[in-house]
Amino acid sequence: MHITAIKGFKDILPDETAVWRRVETVAREVVGRFGFQEIRVPIMEKTALFARSIGETTDIVEKEMYTFADRNGESLTLRPEGTASVLRAFVEHALHSQQPVCKLFTLGPMFRHERPQKGRLRQFHQLSVEALGADQPELDAELMAMAAMVLDELGLRASLEINSLGCPRCRPAFNRALLAFLENKREALCDDCQRRRLKNPLRVLDCKGSACQAHYRQAPSILDHLCPDCARHFERVRDCLAAMAIPFKVNHFMVRGLDYYTRTTFELLTDTLGAQGAVGAGGRYDGLIKQLGGPELPGIGFALGLERLVLMLGEREAEPAPSLSGLFVAALGEQARGVGIGLAHRLRGQGVKVTTDYAGASLKSQMKQAGRQGCRYVLILGDEELAKGEGLLRDMASREQESFPLSAELAVLARRVRTAGE
Ligand code: HAM
Repeated sequence: MHITAIKGFKDILPDETAVWRRVETVAREVVGRFGFQEIRVPIMEKTALFARSIGETTDIVEKEMYTFADRNGESLTLRPEGTASVLRAFVEHALHSQQPVCKLFTLGPMFRHERPQKGRLRQFHQLSVEALGADQPELDAELMAMAAMVLDELGLRASLEINSLGCPRCRPAFNRALLAFLENKREALCDDCQRRRLKNPLRVLDCKGSACQAHYRQAPSILDHLCPDCARHFERVRDCLAAMAIPFKVNHFMVRGLDYYTRTTFELLTDTLGAQGAVGAGGRYDGLIKQLGGPELPGIGFALGLERLVLMLGEREAEPAPSLSGLFVAALGEQARGVGIGLAHRLRGQGVKVTTDYAGASLKSQMKQAGRQGCRYVLILGDEELAKGEGLLRDMASREQESFPLSAELAVLARRVRTAGE
């Protein structure tokens, strides 16, 4: 029996990688425009990092983490998101000493043991961005604009929903109001909500169960309980979004699945992915850096789900076929293959994409391979040609053929192949 990939872990096959690269390139380019720099952090951390930051009562920490003891018995976890690791690195390397706002992004795989379905995997990829050191609402709006711009540059659309979760000063009053509201509904709630109600009341609003959600529709709104500072902050975020002409909707039910958020939270939603509506999400976490042992600095970030962006791109018209490129060396016979391998090596050294046949196939079959690979030129090397010190160069676009002296400057051929189809 053959061994298959782990459930929820997906291969990204060669015919899919071009669109992935495009998403990654656009993402890097856009965040670069806003001054974000790349950071690469390990895919595994000590379990306590996630438990402490994402929150003990969240679905992620309670049910979804890939946690195991390593050979020394230390509890390690495959990262379920990027923020905790980036902040750990920020604190560990004292990156705050470099500039007032430290803007970092990372691209890579995350791991959550969720129920796999379209757009939901157990290994998935995020563009995760964090802006650390400023609490101004302009930054919040700018980050949402940046997320929207990544989508826009890919030709995609999503709607923006925003909320404010307040701060440690206004949260207790809201928690009290929420607890009072939940008091006479206790029996009707699911086990998770009953358990989380007392430990972390806000968490119940994130319950995925439709029965619980039906009750929560009447729940008090956090926006009615914001302290004056948080209310002003949220108002200014909305004004800044309006100034940038970015449409948004306020959704006071949005609590997000991670505990570290304070004040602004947001989600980019699409109806093209079935049940998986959020293509990206994020928010402010003003207490988190301190909580992880760092200085008392505010921060905000978001993550875009790359699988979801790729799926959304797939829903649109097929991309036009790429133009023909590169050279195929079709060598016939052992002696020709020897010459061919030398030529191929030198051409690759000059930046040319060169492929060849290794199986001693017929000319007809090698021409077919070149066609399938989308090669622009084929250099045919047969005994007859070699005896004359030549090859036959065939242009697969114009179907014209000419003899090519093997003693000629390779740089000329290299340039010709490289620039074809530009
Ligand atoms: P999140 O809402 O858990 O936030 O995930 C962000 C995005 O990652 C989601 O909107 C979705 O597009 C994608 N995503 C999440 N889980 C899966 C999955 N199982 N399969 C495919 N895609 C998925 C965070 O992770 C926060 N760290 C975002 C953040 C950064 N907040 C502040 N800074």
